Amino acid sequence: MEKGTDFKLGRGWSVSPDADEADADYNAPHEPSTTSRPDPSRYYDPEFAAKEWDRMWTRIWTLAGPVSDISEPGDYFLYQLGAESFIIVRTEAGDISAFYNVCPHRGNQIAREEFGSVREFTCGFHSWKFALDGKNVAITDSETFNKDVLCHGTDLTEVRCEVVAGLIFVNMDDDAGPVREFLGPIADALEVYAIAEMHTVRHVCSVWSANWKTGADAFYELYHLHAVHPETQCLMEDYHAQYDTYPNGMSRMIVPFAKPSPRFPDQETVNEGIQSMLTEAGIDPASFKGTAQDARAAIPVAKRKRAKKIGLDYDKFTDAQLSDSFPYGIFPNVQIGSHPEGVFIMKFMPHPTDPEIFIYDNITMVKYVDDPDYKVPGWMGLPEGTDVTGAVRPDIEHIPLGVKPDLGLVLDQDSELLPFVQKGIRSRGFKGPLWSEQEIRLRHYHAEVDRYVNGEK
Ligand code: FES
Ligand SMILES: [Fe+2]
Repeated sequence: MEKGTDFKLGRGWSVSPDADEADADYNAPHEPSTTSRPDPSRYYDPEFAAKEWDRMWTRIWTLAGPVSDISEPGDYFLYQLGAESFIIVRTEAGDISAFYNVCPHRGNQIAREEFGSVREFTCGFHSWKFALDGKNVAITDSETFNKDVLCHGTDLTEVRCEVVAGLIFVNMDDDAGPVREFLGPIADALEVYAIAEMHTVRHVCSVWSANWKTGADAFYELYHLHAVHPETQCLMEDYHAQYDTYPNGMSRMIVPFAKPSPRFPDQETVNEGIQSMLTEAGIDPASFKGTAQDARAAIPVAKRKRAKKIGLDYDKFTDAQLSDSFPYGIFPNVQIGSHPEGVFIMKFMPHPTDPEIFIYDNITMVKYVDDPDYKVPGWMGLPEGTDVTGAVRPDIEHIPLGVKPDLGLVLDQDSELLPFVQKGIRSRGFKGPLWSEQEIRLRHYHAEVDRYVNGEK
């Protein structure tokens, strides 16, 4: 399709124009928005960041990690949010609990390993011990404590934790509503992907010189693809992509795959990029009769045909979900690139003290298919030799500030770009972003950030 002039403000393009409201690819009218130009200080002002912490981060549900990362009783992982550290643990009963990672005795951080499996937690300072449910089970030399000291409480401090769609969410606010309410329609949309049955095959945590919102902004739109990622133009329809907004700052986009961008000169040849997407769907490109315009429609047909053989259940998915990428935006700092074969979770984590640094936390999860003819999709960008069986939960690869993350061509291009954006935003000559409707998701989530920061939420 050529770049059109019939763009609908307030709705944008629909990748499946015939979809109705019950369909996963339905393009709903956008949530109300304004045309205001936000003050750029939101991207660097420590006072703004402090308000975000006090009024937003400490009061909302944030994504800690996937349930499959802690499958056995005693398995735990640490979740860092700003200056806080939480222990997320599978209890004896098989439930999931979360605690502040701090000892009630003198405040030492109890767990230091990012992942572990324990029968109980022991503080490294004076050896107090805690069961998996946070209850204190041993106080060293307890006879030397006055009872009236210990009566103040000796258990770990619990923090609220709820699971939706195989994902663990944490909230420091006891008055907040349930996470399902917070997520709204995104909860059911994510549920379909059965993320609990997937496992982490790669986890990279890199540090970037930009505000967490500068990071999220760059991944919430496709408008920059032609300029920053020209290599994607042969196989991603960046222009007629679909953008949807939902209550509470949530959003998603739909990116048609196996279709050249209308900006790409050759619309007919089944180029190498599209060939590899056909191969991944089980189609031999050599015998494929169509042009580049036919590839996207051929993919769901081929995937459904081989579904039984490889044990992937596509029944609950629409055709667009089989061919395209569905990145869901969980307010305010998460995007989940969702495919039936796997998900790509990216989290834009605020730095504990510096609003011009964020931690880009990147988890690739795969539904393992034990079939020699099956290939893990190339969009996952997994390095050669990655173990996708789920036998071992890989360690987190930590990439310090200033070191190229080596996340694959596209993400590396973003990592090179963002420090320049952050620097430019700080200029006295920059008066704030001018967002197009291709950037409606940015406008939408920033407005929600403002509602928290301004005390309206
Ligand atoms: S600080 Fe933990 S036992 Fe003393
Ligand atoms: Fe990008």
